[in-house]
Amino acid sequence: MNPLNHVAIIMDGNGRWGLKYRNSRNEGHKEGLKTVEIIIKSSIKNKIKFLTLYAFSTENWKRPKKEINYLFKLLENFLSRKLDDIHKQNIRIKVLGYKKFSKKLNFLLNFAEKKTIKNSKLQINLALNYGSKSELINAFKKIKRNKIKINEKNLEKNLQTNNIPDPDILIRTGNTKRLSNFLLWQLAYSEIFFEKKLWPAFTEKDYIKIIKEYKNVKRNFGRI
Ligand code: FPP
Repeated sequence: MNPLNHVAIIMDGNGRWGLKYRNSRNEGHKEGLKTVEIIIKSSIKNKIKFLTLYAFSTENWKRPKKEINYLFKLLENFLSRKLDDIHKQNIRIKVLGYKKFSKKLNFLLNFAEKKTIKNSKLQINLALNYGSKSELINAFKKIKRNKIKINEKNLEKNLQTNNIPDPDILIRTGNTKRLSNFLLWQLAYSEIFFEKKLWPAFTEKDYIKIIKEYKNVKRNFGRI
């Protein structure tokens, strides 16, 4: 059985769910947050050490301001409400991406990272204003600036995922089969699961089914 350390998720389908069931894209994001909480709990139960959630991409800035503001408010409220509980559960929060948000959200994210830095049960990587291409370009720039050799080890050290093992599983919900500029380097050997359900409709049962399937996959990493 394959060991499972790291699950990465593209939580797609909030907007469509919201329009279909609540006549509002933002309501879909709100409902999507409930799925986030379910998946965090289940990850702990399943002894997963790293959970990376694609919450806002560098391309998501192209969305209407109203939706962007709603998403950030949702995250702000989530952190304000849940940080103590997250900390008590020995969960670490880390942000992947550059924190270019409101003063309040930047503060909350920095605060959450610092407060939980020593926690070790589960590390949640929040990919926020994250884009894999710019992450790679910045890593190469740093390597060039420091005049060090270009090799896999040095590149990985300069990615925002430094010290985080590559994802074993990538899940994308929402019936779309693309990577959307997410962890392009890190996903090189991950097992990819495309899920038809929209993120707010994704359940713990669906998650467990994927975990079980993953555990029985023959992972060759190029060998036979
Ligand atoms: C993609 O669905 C989802 C997002 C861009 C935001 C994800 C945010 C959440 C699940 C809530 C907040 C998260 C955290 C971690 C606190 P979409 O809007 O692109 O859906 P669509 O494809 O149906 O339009």
